Amino acid sequence: MRSLVRETHLHPGALIYPLFVCEGEGVRKPVSSMPGVFNVSVDEAVKEMEECASLGIGGVLLFGLPESKDEVGTGAYADDGIVQRALRAMKASPASKKLVLIGDVCLCEYTSHGHCGIVTRQGDDFGVENDPTLELLAKTAVSQALAGADIVAPSDMMDGRVAAIRAALDKHGFSGTPVMSYAAKFASAFYGPFREAADSAPQFGDRRTYQMDGANLREAMREIEQDISEGADMLLMKPAMPYLDVIREARNRFDLPMGAYQVSGEYSMMHAAFERGWLEPERTMLESLLCLRRGGADFIVTYFAKDAAKLL
Ligand code: PBG
Repeated sequence: MRSLVRETHLHPGALIYPLFVCEGEGVRKPVSSMPGVFNVSVDEAVKEMEECASLGIGGVLLFGLPESKDEVGTGAYADDGIVQRALRAMKASPASKKLVLIGDVCLCEYTSHGHCGIVTRQGDDFGVENDPTLELLAKTAVSQALAGADIVAPSDMMDGRVAAIRAALDKHGFSGTPVMSYAAKFASAFYGPFREAADSAPQFGDRRTYQMDGANLREAMREIEQDISEGADMLLMKPAMPYLDVIREARNRFDLPMGAYQVSGEYSMMHAAFERGWLEPERTMLESLLCLRRGGADFIVTYFAKDAAKLL
């Protein structure tokens, strides 16, 4: 009876699994704050993608840990950058036809200062330079599309980046490559463990000059509107569970496909409770995902993707 009258459903095809790709071969380096999550070299990342495909998962989202970093994040848009190499290797596997390969477009994993854009500093003050950053983000998106990304997903939160990326993709013959925009991304403490996983913690200051204030719902709606008008094809909201009201409001207002990113801190928090025996892993995990679907998300980016797909 419950199954007959159930209003929302979870299915593996609506899940996206994030992968952190690093240099080397045969590398699977555990991320200590995220049990079950690893930094993986390109060969291992291909195996992960193949496993996801066989589990029916809808896509993988690629983050890169480059060999070296610099002030302008060169590794993000290098033809032989770590994500670009991973994309090419994945495309060479037949399994890649069963899911989508999504490139995360941002500079923070590639800049020596760890910020998502170009930075100017004056003493203790610093500023992230919005407009000069746009060009680099657009270059990153094009290089990922060239390497085989099916979707590009800008997570930097610079203003105007969707338009810049769209124009650059079109110009280079990738008019069919969708932009999945992290349209409403809040400056959040829940990204903590990710910054270990992606080695992207800011070396000074924080991200509050470009990520949104968690107090603001209306501002989030304006950010989304702006991204849609710039040509976004899909929206991503993050974090997820602490911002369910934002997801619901966005779903009521906008008709674009929309996903929720259950971020690292949400995952680690639950794992910490699982390890202590305080929460029941399977039910908790599935409930944490189902609430996002009920809240209005069509798809979910989650570190639980493989575990959930196995159960589903
Ligand atoms: C930044 C980016 C972040 C995440 C995805 N892309 C973190 C940040 O803004 O520091 C966080 C994802 C997570 O916490 O799982 N480009």
